[in-house]
Amino acid sequence: MFAPPSSLAGYRRAVRVLFIGDVFGKPGRSLVAAHLPRVKSNYDFIIANAENAAGGFGLNREALEALTGAGVHAVTLGNHAWDNKEIFKLLDDPRIIRPLNASLEAPGRGWGTFTVGNEKLTVVNLLGRVFMNPAYDNPYNALEGVLEHRDLGAVFVDFHAEATSEKACLSYHFDGRVAAVIGTHTHVATADTRFLPLGTAFQSDSGMTGVIDSSIGMSLEGSIYKLRTGLPMKTEVALGRSKLNAVALEITDSKVTKIVRYTYTEDDATGVFEGEVRR
Ligand SMILES: [Fe+2]
Ligand SMILES: [Fe+2]
Repeated sequence: MFAPPSSLAGYRRAVRVLFIGDVFGKPGRSLVAAHLPRVKSNYDFIIANAENAAGGFGLNREALEALTGAGVHAVTLGNHAWDNKEIFKLLDDPRIIRPLNASLEAPGRGWGTFTVGNEKLTVVNLLGRVFMNPAYDNPYNALEGVLEHRDLGAVFVDFHAEATSEKACLSYHFDGRVAAVIGTHTHVATADTRFLPLGTAFQSDSGMTGVIDSSIGMSLEGSIYKLRTGLPMKTEVALGRSKLNAVALEITDSKVTKIVRYTYTEDDATGVFEGEVRR
């Protein structure tokens, strides 16, 4: 084990965080369960967006236990948060962070602070409003409300939104005040991993963890039929080769010092890192 020299009194090892994008249905859960136990010792804290973990729609106890059993410490949600009604029995669990600005009436918590090694890590789940349900509360005001609290440590925001423009604008507005803003919801990973001018780590979308040959996790057959004909058709969680999309962060003194995309498929012997940026 590396020990810092005594001249570096006060030396603090970076806290390593892995954020796994929208885990979609059983294929997504299975890939997390198969892979995460092999790599979880590389991370101090693992977050997964679980809004699609139960059959593509919401979160239930089985899905929560599959993820936490594999090594996930906290889960975030999104616009599908309430799709599976079992969620209402689970929201007392402090590991579940539901959308902060979904509804003033919502049970559970929209942000939570966790102690991770030498650091505090505050996880926030925010919903966007562009091409989303306009009834959601203003995400700027919601995040300002969180930032009024003390001892938040590094603030990690899962900004669950459709439009890349909305994700960029909110992130630049809070640049330097939060450690990271990583987008979710589109299920397509973006290659814009970077630090904003005042130090916030950013990526428009983490991508999903689910079947590759699919309509963002759902079976192609039913999805194409609906789009081609305009007629209703039952769609199901796709089956086949899956991919895990994640973002890995290193945090020191509440600031991100390194951000890198991380992917894994069953074809890989190990995961693949790409797009590493340091500051
Ligand atoms: Fe999703
Ligand atoms: Fe979503």
